[in-house]
Amino acid sequence: MNILVTGGAGFIASHIVDRYIDLGHKVSIIDNLSSGKKENINPGATFYQFDISSPEIEEIFKKEKPQVVNHHAAQIDVRKALEDPVFDAGINIIGSLRLLEQSVKYKVNKFIFASSGGAIYGEGDKRELPFKEDSLFRPESPYGISKLTVEKYLYAYRHTNNISYTVLRYGNVYGPRQDHTGEAGVVAIFISAMLASKPPNIYGNGEQLRDYVFVEDVVRANELALTGGEGKSFNIGTSYGGSVNEIFKYLKSFLHFSQEPIYRPRRAGEIEKVYLDTTLVRNELGWKAEYDLEKGLEKTVAFFKDRT
Ligand SMILES: NC(=O)c1ccc[n+]([C@@H]2O[C@H](COP(=O)([O-])OP(=O)(O)OC[C@H]3O[C@@H](n4cnc5c(N)ncnc54)[C@H](O)[C@@H]3O)[C@@H](O)[C@H]2O)c1
Repeated sequence: MNILVTGGAGFIASHIVDRYIDLGHKVSIIDNLSSGKKENINPGATFYQFDISSPEIEEIFKKEKPQVVNHHAAQIDVRKALEDPVFDAGINIIGSLRLLEQSVKYKVNKFIFASSGGAIYGEGDKRELPFKEDSLFRPESPYGISKLTVEKYLYAYRHTNNISYTVLRYGNVYGPRQDHTGEAGVVAIFISAMLASKPPNIYGNGEQLRDYVFVEDVVRANELALTGGEGKSFNIGTSYGGSVNEIFKYLKSFLHFSQEPIYRPRRAGEIEKVYLDTTLVRNELGWKAEYDLEKGLEKTVAFFKDRT
């Protein structure tokens, strides 16, 4: 297949590009390198350094004529989205719409979209967890709203423009190549602090729960979405709520780290609990996370250790 991957220089989508190329697909990438890195770009892919919100992306569609668009480029910083919701919407909503418009014009067969199970359902404390795909949406940040908005556009475009799509709602993805410098990615942030012999900061009591899913499992979902799951949104997680304390405990043991974390005041507005039911994707795509937290963290630590 001829596949256009947006955000292919970033953490998650660079792994997806690698897998698509291994499978023999022809891959092109759009990325503006705002958080992505050149060294993540698979040399077998054609790279276009463009902003997805620019009308110039039409040139790429004209030239590449992709059969599939796999859309991962995004402003992913929840704090940034709170500070500057217009900037967030400009990339995450308008940029996505530009891609959708081009996808209709150039008759793309399938649009795969990276949404967020961690951000669209909202707070899970005192609600029924794990969240199912049809749980009530209560996004608490402009980032969550922008992800949900694109899902709604996809639904509408399928009806009005006959576009075929699959949405993957990720939990908290972790693994090799995750950036430790940004706001996201507690695992990468902890590992790099600990490798530098610094105690990591834990905000609150460390018992906040998230659905940590290993990037290789996420890649497999993107492989299955090439041909399955038409018109559907799926949770992609482990159905298990892992705590920050638990992550620290595993990393401490894998890295033989002797210090304790520093507990700091809870961050205002941070969600306490969210994790995801994955029955639907198991039934429809045959996908199930193969890595539990311990196994995934062990593999992630090995990658970061190798790099130092
Ligand atoms: N990491 C997670 O836990 C998680 C959870 C849920 C959803 N997601 C979604 O998965 C996708 C990938 O996330 P990631 O963690 O790999 O982040 P990332 O920052 O590593 O990747 C995003 C990529 O998009 C590129 N990009 C950003 N703005 C762009 C623009 N305007 N034009 C072109 N390229 C642009 C960046 O340079 C980067 O390479 C995002 O859509 C994110 O919202 C991630």
